[in-house]
Amino acid sequence: MELRTAGLTKQYGSKTAVKRLNVTLTNGVYGLLGANGAGKTTLMRLLCTVQRPTRGEITLDGQNIWRLGERYRELLGYLPQHFGYYPDFTALDFLLYIAALKGIDGKWAEGRSRELLEEVGLSGECRHRIKTFSGGMKQRLGIAQAMLNNPSILILDEPTTGLDPKERVRFRNLISAFSKDRIVILSTHIVSDIAFIAERVMMMKAGEIILLGRPDELTSQINGRVWECSVPTSRAERYAAFLNVSNLRNEENGNTVLRVISEQPPVAGAVRAQPNLEDLFLYYCKEESKP
Ligand SMILES: Nc1ncnc2c1ncn2[C@@H]1O[C@H](COP(=O)(O)OP(=O)(O)OP(=O)(O)O)[C@@H](O)[C@H]1O
Ligand SMILES: [Mg+2]
Repeated sequence: MELRTAGLTKQYGSKTAVKRLNVTLTNGVYGLLGANGAGKTTLMRLLCTVQRPTRGEITLDGQNIWRLGERYRELLGYLPQHFGYYPDFTALDFLLYIAALKGIDGKWAEGRSRELLEEVGLSGECRHRIKTFSGGMKQRLGIAQAMLNNPSILILDEPTTGLDPKERVRFRNLISAFSKDRIVILSTHIVSDIAFIAERVMMMKAGEIILLGRPDELTSQINGRVWECSVPTSRAERYAAFLNVSNLRNEENGNTVLRVISEQPPVAGAVRAQPNLEDLFLYYCKEESKP
C-alpha cells in the first residue's frame, strides 16, 4: 500500500496549516512529531478525508482518496485529538454503536469489541458507563474504536495523552503487533512513545515536514552536537536559561548533569553524548519550544 500526498496544502484564511507536502507513506509505523500548531492534526484530518485540502491531493495506490470515498474510509481507522464520547453509554455499547455506524456486521462486531476491550485493558469495565471513566480510560476506548474495523490505515492523533506508564507500554505492544502490513500514523509530544515502535519519524514545523526517516538515521544527523556536563545544582537554572537543555538530572553529590544541544562544548569539561529523538526534536524545533 502506498499513501501519497502531492502538493498538499491546507489554508485557513491567510494561515497555511499544511504547506505543499509531498510525502509517500508505505506500510509501517510513522511517528509524527512537531510543536503545538505545527500542523499535525490538520495533516491527519486531511488524510482521513475529514477536511478537504485547499490545493494538492492525496492518493492511495494511485487513486484519489476523495474519489475512492467509502472504499477508502472502509480501510481507515481514526482517533481524533478531541474525541467525543457518549457519557451514558457503557464501553461495550459504545463500541457496538461505532461498529454499527461503520456498517460492521453485528455478531462479528461484538467479538471484535470484546477482544479490543481486553487488549486496551478495559474488559473489566466494559459494562461501566463512560462518564465514570478516567481520562486515560476514555483514551483507551478511543484507541479501541479506531481499530474496530481492522483498518489498513490507522491514524491516531495523540493517542497516549493521559496514559500512565503501564498503559503506555501496553499501547506500544498493541500497535507493534497490529501494524504488520498496515500504515499506522501516530502523533505525540512524548518522544519516548514512538522511539520504540516507529519505523519512521516525521517531524513537522510550520506546516512542512522537515524530517522524515528512520530514528537512528535522523539522530545520527546531530552526532557530536549533544553534550553532558556536570554543574553545581545551585547554578543549573542559570545555565539552563541560556543553553538549549534537553534534560536535567540531579545527582546526590550536589551536582546536576545537564544534557545540552550545542555546536560547541557548552562548558569546559562537557562530554559528547549519543543523540536521541528528544535531542533531535529540540535541535530542530528550539525556536518554537524555547521562546
Ligand atoms: N479550524 C481552524 N481555523 C483556523 N486555524 C486553524 C484551524 N485549525 C487549525 N488552525 C491553525 O493551523 C495551524 C496548525 O494547527 P494543528 O491543529 O494542525 O496543529 P498541531 O500540530 O496539531 O498542534 P497541537 O500539537 O497543538 O495539537 C495552527 O496555527 C492553528 O492555529
Ligand atoms: Mg494537534
